[in-house]
Amino acid sequence: MKPINVGLLGIGTVGGGTFTVLSRNEAEITRRAGRPIRVTQVADKNLELARQVTGGKVAVTDDAFAVVSNPEIDIVVELIGGCGIAKELVLKAIENGKHVVTANKALLAMHGNEIFAAAQKKGVMVAFEAAVAGGIPIIKALREGLTANRIQWIAGIINGTTNFILSEMRDKGLTFDVVLKEAQRLGYAEADPTFDVEGVDAAHKLAIMSAIAFGIPMQFDKAHIEGISKLEAADIKYAEQLGYRIKLLGITRRTPDGVELRVHPTLIPARRLIANVEGAMNAVLVQGDAVGATLYYGKGAGAEPTASAVIADLVDVTRMQTADPEHRVPHLAFQPDQMDDLKVLPIGEVRTGYYLRMRVEDKPGVLADITRILADQQISIDAMIQREPAEDETQTEIIMLTHIVREKQVDAAMRLIEALPVVTGKIVRLRLEELS
Ligand code: HSE
Repeated sequence: MKPINVGLLGIGTVGGGTFTVLSRNEAEITRRAGRPIRVTQVADKNLELARQVTGGKVAVTDDAFAVVSNPEIDIVVELIGGCGIAKELVLKAIENGKHVVTANKALLAMHGNEIFAAAQKKGVMVAFEAAVAGGIPIIKALREGLTANRIQWIAGIINGTTNFILSEMRDKGLTFDVVLKEAQRLGYAEADPTFDVEGVDAAHKLAIMSAIAFGIPMQFDKAHIEGISKLEAADIKYAEQLGYRIKLLGITRRTPDGVELRVHPTLIPARRLIANVEGAMNAVLVQGDAVGATLYYGKGAGAEPTASAVIADLVDVTRMQTADPEHRVPHLAFQPDQMDDLKVLPIGEVRTGYYLRMRVEDKPGVLADITRILADQQISIDAMIQREPAEDETQTEIIMLTHIVREKQVDAAMRLIEALPVVTGKIVRLRLEELS
């Protein structure tokens, strides 16, 4: 059986894991794929590292373009990351008629439409299971396992760094800054953790899931993104008192008016399974009209969990490469000429529940003023608590949960409430999803 030849671009954490798992499970993988899958060339700037990881058994080069132009290579695995050289290499590999496997969520979220169009034209596959939620086979589930369904919504914990930080803040009552340092020490967060903590990494993954769930183009640029860096420990505590946990969720939902595409800290009922996903773990909840709710849980990062997804793609591509391109699973789950042009809703049009925390004078009539404004905006209160003021305090805090309402109505109410002389400072506003 002629082996399939793989060229690996980048032999860092995931590249190393891919090499290790392919070697360790070679016999099992060959039995599944129908032919051996061999890494025959590796490109990395660090040649010494490449030689060390591959044990001198594979040709190494510091010129990644040599790999994508090597006529012996059947599949290029891109594990460089980012949208610079990685984009050039992926497009070049496609142009050279090679199939591509990538873990690069930023590249697909931002340039996926161009990349898939090029691949379509050339009749090659671009597989990307490792780009979303690491080892969890969520792309396979959305694209194939749930293919009978009209998918209604997806809500996911798709960034392990932020989930670790939120878990630690809740468990230990620590502030964001303290836990972030701990996450960096443990190697969860990047040295520059901005993409993680500001929700950008989660939004990349969400844009990819949204596209394959609803058959729409990648629309990362229209996603509403809020991270966790401004989240206060007090809100985690109040949420807990009200029976909720705060998670950084990526949410995409099909509505009659368009698609919601948003990443933000979200209150979810503590009794939901997904609310109990702790530490650096990932989980994705998918609601389909036929199947109902399905939940996928596992490691969203790390050498071997991500390698598991990369190799699953390698096996898929190996099996399908002799198939006529028309009979392969489409890149974005739907046939390319059947894509929908559903628009992404601006955040003001999103409908959800809200958590509002405001600092107010502790005197008669204050609550009446606030509830009058909410009523005028058709906002219905679901639950409320008031912090008991200390003896010498003249101010207190009111925390309210609302029923589902359009965000722009909440914005309007907040402006009016903040203008009341009995209200001090800005209202803390978080979104709330019942996920039922
Ligand atoms: N930085 C990502 C996370 C890992 O924290 O989940 C890979 O996507």
